[in-house]
Amino acid sequence: MADKPSKGLADIIAASTALSDIDGRAGVLFYRGYDIHQLAGSATFEEVAYLLQRGHPPGPGELASYSAEIAAGRTLGSLVSACLPDVAGSQSPMEAMRSLVSLAGAGDPDKDSNAAAANTRKAARLTAQQPLLVAAYHAARNGGKVCPAEPGLGLAANFLLHMRGTPPSAREAEIFDTCLVLHADHTMNASTFAARVCAATLSDMHSAVVAAIGTLKGPLHGGANEQVMRTLTDIRSTAPDDPAGAVDREVRDRLARGEKIMGFGHRVYKTEDPRATHLRQMSGELAQTAGDDTFYRMSRRMEEVVLAEKGLYPNVDFFAATVYHYLGIPTDLFTPVFSMSRMAGWTAHVIEQHADNRLIRPDSEYIGERGLSWIPLDQR
Ligand code: ACO
Repeated sequence: MADKPSKGLADIIAASTALSDIDGRAGVLFYRGYDIHQLAGSATFEEVAYLLQRGHPPGPGELASYSAEIAAGRTLGSLVSACLPDVAGSQSPMEAMRSLVSLAGAGDPDKDSNAAAANTRKAARLTAQQPLLVAAYHAARNGGKVCPAEPGLGLAANFLLHMRGTPPSAREAEIFDTCLVLHADHTMNASTFAARVCAATLSDMHSAVVAAIGTLKGPLHGGANEQVMRTLTDIRSTAPDDPAGAVDREVRDRLARGEKIMGFGHRVYKTEDPRATHLRQMSGELAQTAGDDTFYRMSRRMEEVVLAEKGLYPNVDFFAATVYHYLGIPTDLFTPVFSMSRMAGWTAHVIEQHADNRLIRPDSEYIGERGLSWIPLDQR
């Protein structure tokens, strides 16, 4: 007989991991023992992905060969290429990511192996491929194709190049790279848990990532970044002369109606999310460069009101929204962009799960009726 469940599995330790750790009261996040504040701005996404997937920071030679794997893995494959126009024409971005990763799995030479070496290779390929899937989807829905990657650029800069057709400035590339670093892993979040549940059946890495993408899509998880931008845009359009004042009214009204404000609150953090600290700073910087800081000012006002009214802090999705906006990324691609960075964490968790596996199969509390008598259909 099971005990009373913890609703939403709050405070349940569901797995052991050496990948990341959060102290929600202190507001700190570590990847394999390294404080996120140390990594943001000084480690590249490729270094962080390597750290997560392969267990230690890469030396120069290791990073060079990992970067070569990333460059080689930046390919769509024949099945994705063939299906891309139909997928782009009929599926929303996160639906498309779910489909495209699944299709990409068919062409992976290691698809039938969960061996450590095969998983390590697949993790690099999935990490390399995801930015290309996002950019190729975007190009296909506009009837085009992505421009080729530049060998001298890293994963972050190449994504912005694919999206825009011209290389980003060095600072834009650096900022976007830091965004990817900040989103790379986050303990037992919903999508990572989904990936681990799938992997624990000894299913393969692509299947686990598809489960994770479907889970990230929801507005209570990764989908919140898109909703933040839509909220800011809606409020701005209703009060172009005083958007910050309108934020005040709209947030109070929504809270009075019992609605949630997207981009705020967190299951684990009871103080500022350390990732939000960096994203806020980068959003402010990009707003200055853009010469229009309206969305940034609105965001600052929104965090003041939500903190005053509900005692809630912004989570990673809140300032990520305006950072991506200022970088010129279309709003409906914000969550796919999240998937690009979380791919490093998801794949690392699959590697970790397969390395020391036991089926994940919790119990449930039965709350239905008991002892009923079945009446055959012709007597009902
Ligand atoms: N706006 C208003 N009220 C909120 C918010 C919010 N964003 N978040 C939590 N609350 C309130 C709830 O209404 C609830 O109040 P009550 O006790 O009076 O009913 C209380 O705070 C607890 O909220 P729960 O939803 O039970 O908290 P939980 O830990 O289950 O949820 C979650 C965490 C899902 C992140 C929640 O804060 C939320 O829905 N936030 C908005 C969506 C969002 O930004 N998601 C992204 C999270 S980060 C990520 O996944 C990458």
